[in-house]
Amino acid sequence: PGDTLMKHYLQFKDFRAEEYAYLFERARIIKSRFKNYEKYQPLADRTLAMIFEKASTRTRVSFEAGMYQMGGSVVHLTTGDSQLGRAEPVEDSARVISRMVDIVMIRTFGQDKLNTFAAHSRVPVINGLTNEFHPCQILADLFTYLEHRAPVGARGYDLGCLQGKVVAWVGDGNNMANTWLQAAEILGFTVHVSTPGGYEVDPAVAGISDRACYKVFDNPLEACRGAHLVTTDVWTSMGYEAENEARIKAFADWCVDAEMMAVAQPDALFMHCLPAHRGEEVTAEVIDGPQSVVWDEAENRMHVQKALMEYLLLGRIG
Ligand code: CP
Ligand code: NVA
Repeated sequence: PGDTLMKHYLQFKDFRAEEYAYLFERARIIKSRFKNYEKYQPLADRTLAMIFEKASTRTRVSFEAGMYQMGGSVVHLTTGDSQLGRAEPVEDSARVISRMVDIVMIRTFGQDKLNTFAAHSRVPVINGLTNEFHPCQILADLFTYLEHRAPVGARGYDLGCLQGKVVAWVGDGNNMANTWLQAAEILGFTVHVSTPGGYEVDPAVAGISDRACYKVFDNPLEACRGAHLVTTDVWTSMGYEAENEARIKAFADWCVDAEMMAVAQPDALFMHCLPAHRGEEVTAEVIDGPQSVVWDEAENRMHVQKALMEYLLLGRIG
């Protein structure tokens, strides 16, 4: 695509509500084709470069399997086995890699590095997780919520059903929390955020202008009261390992348990982007219980990212 038309997906707010409605409908169609063993290969001869500066299971498998299913190929790079780990400037890496592939996914530390790569890339760039954001995960989480809770109309899922809903975020004010806030601002729901002191979300980092999209609760149980979705994440994100001991102490009361689920809506869903630590941020009873949709959530990474790559490379279909 020409530069003027080219889009990146660097944070959730890069797309409008109407684009999300389109992507969720494409993801629904693409998923149903996959489930029916129908071949769908619109990305034949296209190549995705995946750059990992942090570990991954789901992100790698979902992008790699998804790209092959759509007829394309992937190149997998890590800091350790490329010149990225030997201080080649990110601008130069972007210029070179983007002359040879059609789309790039990056998992790295600071969002600024991702932004710099995108600014020097000839092809679309996708955020596969940064310290600040994890938009592909929230794309999958919202799709999973809609799959479980929204009727399918003639034009797909009605995003209007998200209006006024409450998502309880229990735990760290991290990349996932920031991305939930952006999604709330765009799609019209509210996030009830409860974090220990010192680990709050920062609206400036989260990149939201309207503070009405979230409410802060000191007590995690109160954050969960009446929630339609309860969600959490690891206490120590990748890159923050040195703080692990302090975090284990600070987060002890921020474990999602049956009592928190009991004060949420009776049909509330539980989500976790995974990997999970049973007995830390969530009890085994909750994550392995009937309200948990974590396995659908993980699988849906692949379906939504296939829709995302199709959109970034081919624009709207039909
Ligand atoms: N949820 C998620 O991004 O998982 P990975 O770290 O395994 O990719
Ligand atoms: N917040 C976690 C998410 C892992 C998928 C991290 O950044 O490590």
